[in-house]
Amino acid sequence: MLNLLRTKAVTTQQNSPLKRCLTSVDLTLLGVGAIIGAGVFVLTGIAAATKAGPAIILCYLLAGMACAFAALSYAELATAIGGCGSAYGYAYAGFGELIAWIIGWDLLLEYSVACSAVAIGWSAYVNNSLTALGLPLPFSLMHPPAEGGIIDLPAALIIVLLTALLAIGISYSTRINKIMVFIKLAAIALFIGIALRHVNIAVNWHPFLPFGWPGIASGAAVIFFAYIGFDAVSTAAEEAINPQRDLPRGILASLAICTLVYMLVAGLLTAIAHYSTLNVSSPVSQVLLNLGYRWAGAIIALGAIAGLTTVILVMFYGLTRIMFAMSRDGLLPPVFSQVHTKTQTPIRVIIISGAIMALIAGFVPMEHVAELVNIGTLAAFCIVCAGVAVMRYTHPNLPRPFKTPLSPLLPILGILTCIYLMAHLSRLTWTGFTVWTLIGLVLYFSYSRRHSKLATIQ
Ligand code: ALA
Repeated sequence: MLNLLRTKAVTTQQNSPLKRCLTSVDLTLLGVGAIIGAGVFVLTGIAAATKAGPAIILCYLLAGMACAFAALSYAELATAIGGCGSAYGYAYAGFGELIAWIIGWDLLLEYSVACSAVAIGWSAYVNNSLTALGLPLPFSLMHPPAEGGIIDLPAALIIVLLTALLAIGISYSTRINKIMVFIKLAAIALFIGIALRHVNIAVNWHPFLPFGWPGIASGAAVIFFAYIGFDAVSTAAEEAINPQRDLPRGILASLAICTLVYMLVAGLLTAIAHYSTLNVSSPVSQVLLNLGYRWAGAIIALGAIAGLTTVILVMFYGLTRIMFAMSRDGLLPPVFSQVHTKTQTPIRVIIISGAIMALIAGFVPMEHVAELVNIGTLAAFCIVCAGVAVMRYTHPNLPRPFKTPLSPLLPILGILTCIYLMAHLSRLTWTGFTVWTLIGLVLYFSYSRRHSKLATIQ
């Protein structure tokens, strides 16, 4: 196992054909880019109205805690093992190929479904804004065939556009990401500034726990979606200039910024409007419109569109880097790990996965699949936390530039909170997750195991 770990570390960290150009600020902004999106702009209102009431703020605290434990574990493994495969690579080093495959397969589900689902949300926000300007798109171009339309055109188009951006190069992508992140943070700051003047806790926070304590757990399992994305920072290990120093910074800083933003937004949203009125698709801009701030509502909508764009961009980026790593290890066909000599990006995997996601976003109704993203991510977090505890035992002398404090206590708490949240997801989600895992196992035993490169080295 130690040989395998060394071989993997050497192949991934030193011989990477990808271009090293990302600083710790880039990595933090990549994290914030991937994290703040549909979760806070859409799900906060729905979860407050139907699951937790004003206690939604505690849902964000609970889900944030699960993520903090996982983030510390990610930071340790990202610096000790590295490689752009993220949790897939850590599972490979800690538990061997089969578990790595299962986690990699989960991550493909997480990132591709997240991209397609957020693209559909993006399309709805864009059409809302066009409608406000008197230029609504026809129904048939906003809905897939199963919903009576032809195609969700904007959803497919945004994926095509981001495919082109990622193919051109990571430097361009991070530049665009930075601009968009600032737009969405400015929009959120505007919301906070206005909302602070309209707080009415005496009325709106009573009752604080309308759905009782169970509502907090099921609310947290849903809004967990809002936190997904900081793990995408770890997929950038091979493009970071100084990964050992900057990956922990990027992961932990982006998570800290987002937790703070989320608790503020969730607290204020329920403090300025009664939770029962928040079950709408754009609650953050809607409450400002209801308070008479039309211009602010429009700016928030723009911020949300920018926010959703960065989520798709970074998740898409993460997806291609994980496929790249799995292909380089022989578990996926070699076509996915070819890097273009000029752009230094894995261009084929970008185009192939972009085409698949554009088709899904354009033609598949996604209403119930977004929860699949949560379950896949929570499973990956469990493995990463377990990886820290197990590798402290199996590889005590491995250099660890960043160490998770109080290990194994914090990793174990991480596993327990993730399992607790998974237990509160619906049966439908569990069924979808089981089916996806079974398909993955069939693929592994019929293709990947026979083509694995590291197994041959061992
Ligand atoms: N965290 C991302 C979002 O909320 C997936 O859109």
